[in-house]
Amino acid sequence: MNIGIIGLGYVGLTLAMAAANSGHIVYGTEINEHIKKCITKKKAHFYEPGIDNLIRRHLDRSFFVVDEFSPDIPIEAFIITVGTPLSGEEVDGVKQPNFDYIRSAIKSIKVYDGTQMIILRSTVSVGTTRNVVIPYLCELSGKKESEILVGMCPERTLEGKAVHELTHLPQIISGNNPESIDIAQRLFRNITPYVITADSIEEAELAKLYCNTYRDMTFALGNAFCMAAQEFGVDGISVIKHANQGYDRSNIAYPGYVAGPCLEKDAYILINNMPECDSKKFILSARKFNESLIDITVNWVRERIGEPEKGKRITLSGMAFKGNPETSDLRGSSSVYIANALIKAGYELNIHDYVAIKDEMEALHVGAVYDDLYEACKDSQLLLVLNNNSRYGKLLYNEVFSKTKRGFAVLDTWKACTELYYADDIDIRTLGNMNID
Ligand SMILES: NC(=O)c1ccc[n+]([C@@H]2O[C@H](COP(=O)([O-])OP(=O)(O)OC[C@H]3O[C@@H](n4cnc5c(N)ncnc54)[C@H](O)[C@@H]3O)[C@@H](O)[C@H]2O)c1
Repeated sequence: MNIGIIGLGYVGLTLAMAAANSGHIVYGTEINEHIKKCITKKKAHFYEPGIDNLIRRHLDRSFFVVDEFSPDIPIEAFIITVGTPLSGEEVDGVKQPNFDYIRSAIKSIKVYDGTQMIILRSTVSVGTTRNVVIPYLCELSGKKESEILVGMCPERTLEGKAVHELTHLPQIISGNNPESIDIAQRLFRNITPYVITADSIEEAELAKLYCNTYRDMTFALGNAFCMAAQEFGVDGISVIKHANQGYDRSNIAYPGYVAGPCLEKDAYILINNMPECDSKKFILSARKFNESLIDITVNWVRERIGEPEKGKRITLSGMAFKGNPETSDLRGSSSVYIANALIKAGYELNIHDYVAIKDEMEALHVGAVYDDLYEACKDSQLLLVLNNNSRYGKLLYNEVFSKTKRGFAVLDTWKACTELYYADDIDIRTLGNMNID
């Protein structure tokens, strides 16, 4: 099939590669010049295992970056993969999403005449496809709803594993009529092992939101249990480990920040237009609990090292929103929110990450960026390890502590620095025991 992809960001580019690799001919548009430049150099603008090889293999053969879709090339389906970020607006504690990019993406398909299928892949609130996208397509094409072809086929891959997952995960598809469903099935059957046809477009929208909100709430429970344990003077990580050990009926999540471009917003995308009900309050409270870890961390720092003063530096490592699987993505990262809160409070920061792109960390303007973590700790009083990259397991006690000032301490939020725990004179805390004396 000839397919068009609007937006070659994280989702668009990984999907484009999976589609091209499965035999489709892919035409993609992107408004960000930096992204286009990277693709021209046969590299993705983000870290993702396997993606650069695929770009090298398919660029200008079965994957073409175009400024506009040509009327000479018949495209059967256009896939919208633009961002649906939070708008910054909040109503009764519920952060609101911004779906403006979807309309502008559709408008950019100048060849659209109502005969091609439009597939929404971006994450949207329930009803967006039917109430926003379909009327707009009818207006653009001058056709009735029953005559156009629309579907919602959500993306569910994990950053850091997307290239593998796109060809292994079941794909949920939906369509407004049998012809749309047939096109979506043919498109995705080429790429993925099996296709699940949702009963309605709304079901597909909701299924995606449930997947991420389920994760968000699972982690919220782990975080709540962890913090509750400390109210009894018990280490939250230790109790979760022992509650799960050899006991399949418990799979309590370990504590940690729940962040990133999807998890920071998808629960809000689920509830922002949900009628007031107890389910909505329950979901909101879980999201807020996960967000509260940012304040808990900042307050802990303040108690641990006192008010900011000149020369009082803190090292933050693990700026990407997660460490496992590795990603360079700083979007929605709790580490970035923590850094901003500490800067606002007046602390000076050193910043480090094993994977995040240096220019992008510098563009945050939150502190001096270091390539070497030991160097980053040298003139600081506190090291905050903020994600779970497995490389923290190899941090050497002598290297960390010999170079630092007296009184240097570590908050190893994910308990990832396994080597450091062999030393018994070390001042190290985790999210599990940060609030126990
Ligand atoms: N990142 C993930 O792992 C992931 C996973 C599942 C779902 N999603 C969802 O997929 C959607 C996209 O996420 P993303 O992380 O790829 O976002 P992104 O910001 O990385 O990518 C979107 C891209 O679309 C481009 N764009 C915007 N308007 C355009 C237009 N009119 N024409 C051409 N290009 C345009 C932007 O420049 C950007 O590069 C979001 O709704 C997100 O919630 C993301």
